[in-house]
Amino acid sequence: MSIGILKEVKLSENRVALTPAGARYLKDAGHSVLVQSGAGEGGGFSDEAYRLSGARVVRDASEIWQADLVVKVKEPVRSEYGYLRSGQVLFTFLHLAADAELTASLVDKGVSSIAYETVSENGRLPLLAPMSEIAGKMSVMAGGFYLANHFGGNGVLLGGVPGVMPGKVTILGGGTAGMNAALVAKGIGARVTIVERDQERMRYLSTVLGPQVQTLFSTRQHIADELEDTDLLVGAVLVPGASAPRLLDREMLGSMKRGAVFVDIAIDQGGCSETSRPTSHEDPVYREEGVVHYCVTNMPGAYARTSTEALTGNTLPYIKVIADMGVEKAVTVMPGLLDGLNTHKNLLTNKAVADSLGMKYGRLVTR
Ligand SMILES: NC(=O)c1ccc[n+]([C@@H]2O[C@H](COP(=O)([O-])OP(=O)(O)OC[C@H]3O[C@@H](n4cnc5c(N)ncnc54)[C@H](O)[C@@H]3O)[C@@H](O)[C@H]2O)c1
Repeated sequence: MSIGILKEVKLSENRVALTPAGARYLKDAGHSVLVQSGAGEGGGFSDEAYRLSGARVVRDASEIWQADLVVKVKEPVRSEYGYLRSGQVLFTFLHLAADAELTASLVDKGVSSIAYETVSENGRLPLLAPMSEIAGKMSVMAGGFYLANHFGGNGVLLGGVPGVMPGKVTILGGGTAGMNAALVAKGIGARVTIVERDQERMRYLSTVLGPQVQTLFSTRQHIADELEDTDLLVGAVLVPGASAPRLLDREMLGSMKRGAVFVDIAIDQGGCSETSRPTSHEDPVYREEGVVHYCVTNMPGAYARTSTEALTGNTLPYIKVIADMGVEKAVTVMPGLLDGLNTHKNLLTNKAVADSLGMKYGRLVTR
């Protein structure tokens, strides 16, 4: 199969969907790999490194889009919709519950699209996890940075100093991103509370993170109580495939301290607050209800080297199976890929996405 690797066009997206080592692996398995010139630059991978790995480096995006299997990092942006075509296989982050227009394009054009974030394995999300680990760690770094007065923050240093109380970090959702945010917040000495809805997960978090991190069952009242003295609020909730649960409204944000910071990691699924709207690394923050909001949809794009290596290490076995067998067979040998399949042959094949968008769901019948 021919496999195309594009240079990402989304603003400040520096990741690439395949390392040169990955290209070599696929080439050795008998596939041809096309890489758009400059695609790996942000991650420190030169065109020459791809050529030495046996890939063909081409200038034009249109040539890459002709490949049987197009592998990307982020969802296609509007300027790329024209390249979508029937029978094409697209493997990338999609976050369709937050994007009705892209969903309609993929369905209308008959693209077989597999979303990294809904591929499952033993109840986990193996292709979302590495990016959530990075975004979780970044959330406390970025949030602590914007607490500085000159960014409109309240001037609290999260770790405190001897004789001064540390800042308080409240994390909504204790999955992969939430736990990684807690690890960093705990590491710098902040007070940390994780609000979760899954009792078993809270037991696990308590055991792993120890008594410096409190866990709290997720209810509106519990969240409202926590917000009053929170300096950094992190949104990290997820219901796979669906729009992010809206746990916060304007009034709740308004009850927070002036200059508190809210990092909504869940913005890629639409955000967990009424006040959240997508931002970019170029212009990452805005202020609403006196709270600094950081809502960058592609946080790991800022640390492209680490992110690219983490992402491709996990996607490579899936890329190989899809390239070896085609989508319809691949989903039978790797059933988690079926959860990843969001559109196929003019059908919307992910139920959570269909429910979130109020669109018709159609199931792929596998034999
Ligand atoms: N902005 C970015 O650049 C970026 C990068 C990576 C991940 N993400 C996003 O971060 C979010 C979290 O991803 P993850 O991998 O940590 O997911 P995860 O599935 O590992 O964790 C989500 C957690 O949210 C909890 N949850 C769900 N509903 C809840 C509720 N009402 N109250 C409290 N907890 C609730 C779940 O029980 C689960 O533990 C996703 O939306 C993901 O797409 C964003």
